[in-house]
Amino acid sequence: MLDINQACEAFRRILEEQQTRVAQMDETKTDFATKSCITIGVVDGDGIGPIITKQAMRVLQKLLADEIAAGSIVTKYIEGLTIENRIACNQPIPDDVLAQIKTCDVILKGPTTTPHGGTMESANVTMRRELDLYANCRPVCIPEKNIDWMFFRENTEGEYVLGSRGVELPGMAVDFKVTTDAGTRRIARAAFEYAKNNGKTHLSVVTKANIMKKTDGKFTAICHEIAKDYPGITVEDYYIDIMTANLLKDPLRQQFQVILLPNLYGDIITDEAAQIQGGVGTAGSANIGDRYAMFEAIHGSAPRMIERGMGEYANPASMIKAVAMLLRHICRGEAADKLDRAMDACTVQVLSDGSAATAAAYTDALLELL
Ligand code: IPM
Ligand code: MG
Repeated sequence: MLDINQACEAFRRILEEQQTRVAQMDETKTDFATKSCITIGVVDGDGIGPIITKQAMRVLQKLLADEIAAGSIVTKYIEGLTIENRIACNQPIPDDVLAQIKTCDVILKGPTTTPHGGTMESANVTMRRELDLYANCRPVCIPEKNIDWMFFRENTEGEYVLGSRGVELPGMAVDFKVTTDAGTRRIARAAFEYAKNNGKTHLSVVTKANIMKKTDGKFTAICHEIAKDYPGITVEDYYIDIMTANLLKDPLRQQFQVILLPNLYGDIITDEAAQIQGGVGTAGSANIGDRYAMFEAIHGSAPRMIERGMGEYANPASMIKAVAMLLRHICRGEAADKLDRAMDACTVQVLSDGSAATAAAYTDALLELL
């Protein structure tokens, strides 16, 4: 518990740190098209993480078998990102694990459990910050409903960057939300570039700028500034509350293409979007920075499935979709297309109540189709 002077002092430190963060943003990009050896780090996480990561790796290894044999792709297993080890080290990502991760170019990561309460930050949030993975890209595609959405969620700012750094004073708690010019420009640029390079003509900027006037106001204004460089793309603003309704509303929802939004709104709405697609177990997620990138399932580690002894029935589709995104990111587009086609063609169902196939059986069927 802090008194008001201590809280002001804490706030001053936070502002200084944020200024330093922005000053250190480095935009040097990894060029995967010309890189002669790419290292894929594999971190399997907690709960259902190891189960679905194992299946995703079977797929990745099959698709990249020749390159792995030739040594142009190296897969590196990294241990120690378990809830037990993180608690023992009292670090969201233990230093030695982070050092290992930083030796890789891209990471395939299983879901990790975040301890309730306390002050320990989520491993996801730490990794996104440490590797500066500012663009969280989450596709949701339902051809039969004419839905093809790509969410661009800002991944390093907003409520998340200081989510574990709030202050508590007698009778009151305060958290902080941060939006920076540089942080917004780079996510907006990424979303517009994606739109331009993928034939998209419509982009929605989603905030709550009527209430969060400074931070979301800035986010919206900067997105419109960047939009001027993309005359072929129409831009519309929505507030997050009505957008959650719009995702359920035909035919309006069919016109959404690229959806650009700050961190917390992006977190919330992408679970809704994944549910519309068939459940969070069907959705992959890419966390992209200029140097590193990390690919994961959209969902958490499902500890309740493990408690019920149903872990083997976790749907690996989310992690396998993450593999497809990883392949595309490292310029292995043909392998990614092949995987997408096989996933579309695979009719095996996995249900978390255990009434259908296991993760392994689904993957067996998928491998047959590759
Ligand atoms: C996600 C997850 C994470 C988040 C959690 C695990 C910290 O919900 O990737 O959407 O809130 O970003
Ligand atoms: Mg989430």
